[in-house]
Amino acid sequence: MSSQIDHLLNEDRRFAPSPEFAASAIADADLYARAAEDRLGFWADHARDLHWHTPFTEVLDWSNPPFAKWFDDGELNVAYNCLDRHVEAGNGDRAALLWEGEPGDERRVTYAELTDEVKRVANVLEGLGVVAGDRVAIYMPMIPEAIAAMLAVVRIGAIHSVVFGGFSADSLRARIDDAGAKVVITADGGYRKGKVSALKPAVDQALSDRGAGVQETVEHVLVVRRGENEVDWTDGRDIWWHDAVPAASADHDAPALPAEHPLFILYTSGTTGKPKGILHTSAGYLTQAAFTNRVVHDIHPESDVYWCTADVGWITGHTYVTYGPLANGATQVIYEGTPDAPHPGRWWEIVEKYGVTVLYTAPTAIRSFMKIGRAVPQSFDLSSLRVLGSVGEPINPEAWMWYREIIGADSAPIVDTWWQTETGAIMVSALPGVTETKPGSAQAPIPGISIDVVDEQGRHVGNGNGGLLVVTEPWPSMLRGIWGDPERFVETYWEKFRDQGFYFAGDGARLDDDGDVWLLGRVDDVMNVSGHRLSTAEIESSLVAHEATAEAAVVGASDETTGQAVVAFVILKESYLAAHAPEGLAQQLRLWVGEQIGPIARPRDIYIVSELPKTRSGKIMRRLLRDVAEGREVGDTTTLADTAVMSVISAQVK
Ligand code: PRX
Repeated sequence: MSSQIDHLLNEDRRFAPSPEFAASAIADADLYARAAEDRLGFWADHARDLHWHTPFTEVLDWSNPPFAKWFDDGELNVAYNCLDRHVEAGNGDRAALLWEGEPGDERRVTYAELTDEVKRVANVLEGLGVVAGDRVAIYMPMIPEAIAAMLAVVRIGAIHSVVFGGFSADSLRARIDDAGAKVVITADGGYRKGKVSALKPAVDQALSDRGAGVQETVEHVLVVRRGENEVDWTDGRDIWWHDAVPAASADHDAPALPAEHPLFILYTSGTTGKPKGILHTSAGYLTQAAFTNRVVHDIHPESDVYWCTADVGWITGHTYVTYGPLANGATQVIYEGTPDAPHPGRWWEIVEKYGVTVLYTAPTAIRSFMKIGRAVPQSFDLSSLRVLGSVGEPINPEAWMWYREIIGADSAPIVDTWWQTETGAIMVSALPGVTETKPGSAQAPIPGISIDVVDEQGRHVGNGNGGLLVVTEPWPSMLRGIWGDPERFVETYWEKFRDQGFYFAGDGARLDDDGDVWLLGRVDDVMNVSGHRLSTAEIESSLVAHEATAEAAVVGASDETTGQAVVAFVILKESYLAAHAPEGLAQQLRLWVGEQIGPIARPRDIYIVSELPKTRSGKIMRRLLRDVAEGREVGDTTTLADTAVMSVISAQVK
């Protein structure tokens, strides 16, 4: 880590916005002044950009920290704000979604059409007995129906839990059960890497073999036909979308819902084996989602073509595909498939075809394009691009520069946006047109957000020093809790700096001499692989669930393309070895983890070892395993119970 810090500190390139860009930018420096002068008034003003059924009179209730209430006595409807109000304002013919399927099929969905579809789906869900507060799981490919499903659920006050389509049946089951979902919305399958990847079978599996004593909560499964793959059917439970939705009425009044009404649960990995259901509520979330999408992505709804490449299964897809852009009445591109199907220039072909002006993606994608080489993007016309965004992991200055020069024609501002599933929306970022950008730095909290970098005791570290990133004041889109586990919420995020009342993000950061923020990665046992959060504990428990494994330790090792990669060290059971040959077992274990959690969790490397480095109290020293995984000399081993262990492991890994 220290060589990385030194490298970052030597970064002195600066890019000021062009005067033309600054002149037409949505953001201006006054935003900072206004927010500094009256932070709550600032957020109240932005909240008033939304449509309220009942205006709020109170901005923030922080009388029972860390349980915040924003705009608590107001009432609104999130789906109405994303749909009906644009139609009522005369923008019904504007494209909301420019959808591109992986095989090349396309659909243009206007605000009027999306509103109509969402109203029908809302009626279908109500017809199935879904009422406000019920949970609906969504397990879908990136097709317009995924967005319509989310909006229909929240329109009637139900709560969605979107599960990324790449997760396994087991992961889906765990999430369905934890939330107690009443309905699952899915598709037969979707296109990935040139073929149909089935989804419905995973839902069937998730709903069939549940453990003893777990109560079945799912009453219906609503299925979109997309992949046209064969699917099993459970009469009475399963319903085709194309039968139910077109037949439903397109009249549906959006009910007024309390500002703090729960909006969605999104599961994310923490430091234990069990994913956390992060809970977000309505008005505060939508306020910050819409505001940040406008000022950070510089969205001019009447002219921009925006493209956020995230899947709706992640928080980035929630906030910057579904809620932010639609609340702003923007036009956006949605792409179903993988970046390299059927050819490595697919993304740039899409940028050219739709004239994308604002692109928001992850460093891991940029690094894989760098590997392929500049010739691929340079064979497309990317001149429409004027703002580039980055999210999900630290972006190294080299990737930042490549993004700017090769994709952004050396002129488009780059916004490196730091935030989390828990923060709901962007927290730290440059503002295009305002900020002089620095390659590799997320730079400054956005207006209205208060963050700091502190030491273990919660003291400001001062410029030029590293420490822990904290949020020092409540913010509108903050998580309101962990579904069903208020204690874990307090303990995970608020216990560490309880005296100061700071939110602990779990990230290390450094302030440079200008006070700008440089993110340095997680300080806990959470890994970041291709911008996706994975927990070491979750993968370890999957590995030990295999009959061959006695013990396992997982670390995140740095990887040139994916940021970090999962590397596992596994001790096999004597009894298993007595009856089986160990050949091919590492590969079997990789696939096992993929089946248990999902392909993204598959370890890059699995090393079969005879021991693991432990302290005298039995704690695994992952730091030493990371040294081995990254091919470095092993660090200080003096606190190990048996100091010879590391040479044994190093020899076995070679
Ligand atoms: O470690 C930080 C990293 O991603 C984590 C949050 O992951 P998740 O909840 O999955 O949300 C990802 C998309 C918002 C953070 O704790 N992270 C996110 N953005 C950045 C980042 N690290 C450095 N720079 C970023 N811009």
